[in-house]
Amino acid sequence: MNIVIVGTGYVGLVTGVGFAEQGHRVSFVDLDSKKIDYLANKNLPFFEPGLGDYFTNEENFQRMSFHDNYQGLSWDETDIVFICVQTPNNLETNSVDTKFLESAITEISKLDNQDITITVKSTIPPYEIENVCNNVGYDKKLLTFNPEFLREGSAVHDFFNPDRVVIGGLNLEKIEKLKQLYSTYDAEIIITDPISSQLIKYLANTYLPMRLSFVNEATRLAKYSNANLQDVLKGVGLDDRIGSHYFRPSPSWGGSCFPKDLVEVNNFYKEDELNLPLISNIIESNDEHLKWTVNQLISLKESNNLEKIYLVGAAFKEDTDDLRNSPTLDIYKILTEMNIEVLILDPQVEVSELAYISEIKDVSPNSLLSIMYPQKEEFGNNLSEFCSKNNCVIYYPWS
Ligand SMILES: NC(=O)c1ccc[n+]([C@@H]2O[C@H](COP(=O)([O-])OP(=O)(O)OC[C@H]3O[C@@H](n4cnc5c(N)ncnc54)[C@H](O)[C@@H]3O)[C@@H](O)[C@H]2O)c1
Repeated sequence: MNIVIVGTGYVGLVTGVGFAEQGHRVSFVDLDSKKIDYLANKNLPFFEPGLGDYFTNEENFQRMSFHDNYQGLSWDETDIVFICVQTPNNLETNSVDTKFLESAITEISKLDNQDITITVKSTIPPYEIENVCNNVGYDKKLLTFNPEFLREGSAVHDFFNPDRVVIGGLNLEKIEKLKQLYSTYDAEIIITDPISSQLIKYLANTYLPMRLSFVNEATRLAKYSNANLQDVLKGVGLDDRIGSHYFRPSPSWGGSCFPKDLVEVNNFYKEDELNLPLISNIIESNDEHLKWTVNQLISLKESNNLEKIYLVGAAFKEDTDDLRNSPTLDIYKILTEMNIEVLILDPQVEVSELAYISEIKDVSPNSLLSIMYPQKEEFGNNLSEFCSKNNCVIYYPWS
């Protein structure tokens, strides 16, 4: 098929490169012309494990084209458009910022071609899409939805091996086109209406941070009770109604999706009509855990007479360079405001505007090293050896 990908971020680029690998022709359009130049010169604008190999493969690359405007695309030959633009939280209104989506749908509404299957991959509530469609005069019934569940750090694997494919829409022909595209996948395809398709995405992104927050609250309770945290979590997780996958403590969770999607899921309902105390308090639980982590670090530093704190791992999780809503940056800010000397140590991701180092050998003796997430094994081993020789203390959130 001929596919157009609108927005070459984490979702758009991984999706487009994945479809090119499957033999489809893929045109990317992004208003960021620097990014487009970069891509056209065979460079990736961010780090995602495994993506480079598929992207630079010559046969795949020949199937891809890059555009910084909508006019240069061959719309008449296009079968499916995937809109993958960002949908951040608008801090003033505390709701999703639709301006990127509105600009994409405005361009698409100019096409005089109703045969193309226009599919929203971005996470966006359908009532917001309705407003956007009304604003730009586009028939919302023509849109299809295909929410994305990939995880940064294993996005390429997730593209080829999704747990499920969700298609939302009202137009049967367009739904059929998407079904055809995904027909080779070994995953259940759920076909539903637009609202349900987006609610699946929002509730998945509600359950996951809720689970992480549960483990973090359990961690606080276990430490408070002087219990053995690892034994407790193992004992709870071995119940197969609970499971031990995705059941590990962290300094708090972050990233480009959970925080904003949790804000938005609470905009799905009016508080005087529906009360969802569990869902509406997940962010508060996470904020509390971040403060608790900061206090843990301060008390460890003081009780061991240490001089500096190093936060090991800059991004919001391992195997990505995405710094959006990274707990490391939040903790760094809080500690700096308390005049505590804090630096970030990351061998892969540079945060040069902050106090940052990339090499273990540059860590000062008598320091506290807080591991923000599992590091690659060899780095962890080097760290333990270095710490025992240099009177440093390591803090692992899960120990
Ligand atoms: N990042 C993830 O792990 C992830 C996972 C699942 C779903 N999502 C959802 O997918 C969507 C995209 O997320 P992302 O992290 O890939 O975003 P991103 O910020 O990495 O990339 C978005 C891209 O869209 C481009 N863009 C903005 N407006 C445009 C326009 N009008 N026309 C063309 N290009 C335009 C931007 O320049 C940018 O390159 C969001 O709704 C997000 O919630 C993200």
